[in-house]
Amino acid sequence: MGEVEEFYAVYDEDTRLTRDNVHRMEWIATTGVLAEHIRPGERILDVGAATGAYTLNFAHRGYAVTAVDLVERHVRKLAERAAAEGLPNVACLQADARDLSAFDDGSFDVVLCMGPLYHLGEEADRSRCIGECLRVLAPGGLLAVAYVSENAAPRANEVRSQPLPYNYDCFVMDDPEKLVSFLERFPMTVIDHASVDGMSRGLSDIVNGMNRDELEAWTRFTLSICRGPTAFKQAYHGLVLCRKDGRGSR
Ligand SMILES: C[S@@+](CC[C@H](N)C(=O)[O-])C[C@H]1O[C@@H](n2cnc3c(N)ncnc32)[C@H](O)[C@@H]1O
Repeated sequence: MGEVEEFYAVYDEDTRLTRDNVHRMEWIATTGVLAEHIRPGERILDVGAATGAYTLNFAHRGYAVTAVDLVERHVRKLAERAAAEGLPNVACLQADARDLSAFDDGSFDVVLCMGPLYHLGEEADRSRCIGECLRVLAPGGLLAVAYVSENAAPRANEVRSQPLPYNYDCFVMDDPEKLVSFLERFPMTVIDHASVDGMSRGLSDIVNGMNRDELEAWTRFTLSICRGPTAFKQAYHGLVLCRKDGRGSR
C-alpha cells in the first residue's frame, strides 16, 4: 500500500466536509464558487472524488457524473452510496489521476481535480495529472483545481489548541501564485481563483463554536473577501478555475 492509501485507510473521508463548521464552510464555499461556473446538463468528471461528497451532490441535481479515485475503498463506498441514493447517473472507477486512459479525449464538460494535487509532489506527476484532466475535457470546458496552501496551512496548524490527529506527511502544499503560473503553462485560461476557507482553519476553535446564524454570517464575510492575494495568503484551501482553450470556449 502506498502512503496515500495508508493515510486514507485511517482518515474518514465520509465525514470530512460535515464534521465541523470549518469543513462545512469549505463545502459551502466550494459548491458556491463551482455553481458560478457549471451549467445545467454538463458532463462532470470528479477526479479524486473520495466517497462522493461532490459527485453525489451534483448527481442529485441531475448531472451525469463520473467519479474516479486512487483508493479502491473510496470508490466502493461511493458506488454503494450512489446505489442507496437511487442515482443511476453516477459511474465510478478506480483510477490514478495521472492516467485517465479509460476516458476518451474531450468526453467531459467539467473536470473537478479537487484532491490529487494534494498528494502529487513531483512536477512530472502534476503535469501528467493536469494533462490528463485537460485531455478528457472538451474544448471550452471547465477544470477546477483545488490545493492546500503553503502560506497558511502550516500556520493554521501552529495555532490549533489540539495536536493534529493524523500524520499529514503525504500532503503537498502549494504556493498559490506558483500554482497559478504552473497551470498557465497548459492550453487553458485561469478564469477564477478563490480561497474556500479563508482564516477559518487558524480560528478553528472559534469557528467550530459558532451557531448556525453566526456561521452563515462568517461564511458570507469570508466569501466576500475570498479573491485576491491577501485571501490566498490566509486560506488553507484554494480553488483555481480554468477554461480549456479551443473551439467552443464559452
Ligand atoms: C482530501 S480528499 C478530497 C476529496 C474530495 N474531492 C473533496 O474535495 O472533498 C483527496 C482524494 O484524492 C484522492 N487521490 C489522491 N491522489 C490521487 C491520484 N493520484 N489519483 C486519483 N485520486 C487521488 C484520494 O484518494 C482522496 O480520496
